Amino acid sequence: MNGLEISPFIAALPKVELHVHIEGTLTPALRWRLARRNNVPLPYATYDELLESYNVLYNHRKEVHGDNGAPTFLETYFAGTQVLCQEDDFYELGMAYLEKARDMNVRYAEPFFDLQAYLPRGIAAATVLNGYMRAQREGAERFGVQSNWIMCFIRDRPVEEGIATYEAARPWARIPGGHGLFHAVGLASNEYDRPPMLFEKAFQMAKQDGLHTTMHCDVDQKDAADHIHEAIFDVLGGHGTERIDHGLNALDRPELLQGLASKGIPLTLCPHAYHRRQATDVLFPKLRRLWELEGVKWCINSDDPTYMHNVWIDGAMEKVYHYCGLSKADMVQLSRDAVEISWADEKLKAELLQELERFEEKDC
Ligand code: HPA
Ligand code: ZN
Repeated sequence: MNGLEISPFIAALPKVELHVHIEGTLTPALRWRLARRNNVPLPYATYDELLESYNVLYNHRKEVHGDNGAPTFLETYFAGTQVLCQEDDFYELGMAYLEKARDMNVRYAEPFFDLQAYLPRGIAAATVLNGYMRAQREGAERFGVQSNWIMCFIRDRPVEEGIATYEAARPWARIPGGHGLFHAVGLASNEYDRPPMLFEKAFQMAKQDGLHTTMHCDVDQKDAADHIHEAIFDVLGGHGTERIDHGLNALDRPELLQGLASKGIPLTLCPHAYHRRQATDVLFPKLRRLWELEGVKWCINSDDPTYMHNVWIDGAMEKVYHYCGLSKADMVQLSRDAVEISWADEKLKAELLQELERFEEKDC
């Protein structure tokens, strides 16, 4: 997108990805194959029509712009999940991402998954989670990409449904006696009139189990800054979330930037996702400002690459490198920040930081 090629430097940079929805990595080819395997009808007669559907920009919001008949981004994303039915489907989706991650020199990832999208279709939690867990284990062995996953509450569905989903998923959590697939909970989907505090009970449960917490505060949504305020100052009995996904509107209010800095809450940013809606000379100066600010850590991620013009983490990094005018050393520092923002265990973090140091000596 925008004619930027991935430079050899960005390609080789060791990476950590902390904001990628596994369902947002479903390629048209895998979707087509799974639809046929599972006899799931697609609203596209041919593969070319399916491919063409991915060219739509998906950047309008019905609540804001009205219904123009075209699907929104989230409608398209959840439509894609319909082809995932059997354990092998989830496994193959996970493996496809981890293989692609290996090819981009991603060493460690914390992918989100939306279990709640499958249970109403009668798919068992075990089907979804055993599939992802096999990918987690095999992906680490075969591709050398370690991962700890994050279960998202779907915020535009009832809170009680989210809590029931968490209870179904709990045996796969990284808790004593658990399988260790996921080590955190998040909050995703449409945040229109769905502030983080609605999910206080759900987050408290996960926190009591010893899991990490993160929540989406999408960019330029209605009440975006208020949602960030809650995520910093109100949730979890006022302690605040550990991380915020997106959260770029913190730049709109000084108290939000101060809160992020003083509480040490980092942002997982997805520059290409914002570039779909913001002009180059509007967006990248904001990221440059955030880069120059002391105290607020952030890292670069892809979000939903197959539904966002096939721009993956390497493409998102290339954009920041190019349009923010950062140096090679700055980009290495952003990768280092991603390691520190991650919830990888201390041993892996130390190994990744050492690798980045060697990389910097050689390539910067
Ligand atoms: N925003 C909110 N929820 C999501 C997204 C997103 O971009 N992608 C998948 N779930
Ligand atoms: Zn996201």
